[in-house]
Amino acid sequence: MSLPFKTALVTGGAGFIGHHLTHALVARGVKTRVIDDLSRGLAARLKDIASQIEFIEGSILDEAKLSRAVAGVDVIFHQGAWASVPQSVEMPIEYHEIDATGTLKVLEAARKAGVRKVVYAASSSAYGEQPELPKREDQLPSPISPYAVAKYVGELYLSVYAQLHGMETISLRYFNVFGPHQDPKSLYGAAIPAIVSRIVKGISPTLYGDGEQTRDFCYIDNVVDANLRAASTAGLKGQVINVACAQRTSVNDIVRLANAYLGTNVKPTYAPPRVGDVRDSFADISRAKALIGYEPKIFFEEGLGRWIEWYKTSEYMKG
Ligand SMILES: NC(=O)c1ccc[n+]([C@@H]2O[C@H](COP(=O)([O-])OP(=O)(O)OC[C@H]3O[C@@H](n4cnc5c(N)ncnc54)[C@H](O)[C@@H]3O)[C@@H](O)[C@H]2O)c1
Repeated sequence: MSLPFKTALVTGGAGFIGHHLTHALVARGVKTRVIDDLSRGLAARLKDIASQIEFIEGSILDEAKLSRAVAGVDVIFHQGAWASVPQSVEMPIEYHEIDATGTLKVLEAARKAGVRKVVYAASSSAYGEQPELPKREDQLPSPISPYAVAKYVGELYLSVYAQLHGMETISLRYFNVFGPHQDPKSLYGAAIPAIVSRIVKGISPTLYGDGEQTRDFCYIDNVVDANLRAASTAGLKGQVINVACAQRTSVNDIVRLANAYLGTNVKPTYAPPRVGDVRDSFADISRAKALIGYEPKIFFEEGLGRWIEWYKTSEYMKG
């Protein structure tokens, strides 16, 4: 895909999603800057392209560093955040500061610097316990954790900046993203790394609840593609779109399919459900198709196989 912009900033570019996006931008010849305070990310993820990017180590809450980061860029991909639902229950003030106020600061710095376009990593957690399935963007958000509230507030600010300042903004509501280089030990506790890493090692994974809760797992390449398409779409006005595969997979399915791929029979261990976790999550992606031409290309089973192959050769396998 050839891109209609030359320079970009990725906030949280040393994170799981941010570093994949940064690599994709560099591969397409975009002059790319990253701001990341490394509170959750790893600089090593950008080592192979270190000479091709500008890396600012610092927080989006640091206005001096942020204004340096946004200067002269065509597009901001705002990925930087803290992203653990259970931790947000314990640290709601910090989550609000980084995820909500941090997003406002990014928008305000963008406005002052004359940046025209901001693409935001929003979260399907905004739907919360909204019972209707599949989740459609016109349903009323019903967040059930401080993390989900803070991410949702970010969307509202994106929309307000589009209305007030004519900034071209869009919120991509990611549904359970997974892929290589997602840290199995991270606080975020993403299901695929946490569960499948154990199955690969022959250890029983812990499933919270009865394992019948469902998610719409979205392989990282689809998410990168959605970001590039969003940034290439003209006339954005603060819209919200789901980014997912429109596929419903239970946590028990993950165990079954991983065992099938590996030819193993590792049994899970069941523990009580976690506070703030939603029961079912599954997306309607027709708005993303209509607005930015997004269509998922890698579906769950293929992504799972790719993740397992990456994991088997990764540093994490040794630990
Ligand atoms: N992974 C998912 O399934 C998923 C789902 C929905 C939404 N999201 C959103 O996508 C984004 C990226 O998620 P991820 O899975 O890559 O998480 P991640 O933790 O791997 O990456 C987040 C990055 O942001 C950085 N960061 C945190 N606070 C910062 C600050 N104050 N200043 C600068 N950098 C900061 C971290 O160091 C890290 O590198 C987040 O905004 C998250 O809310 C992720």
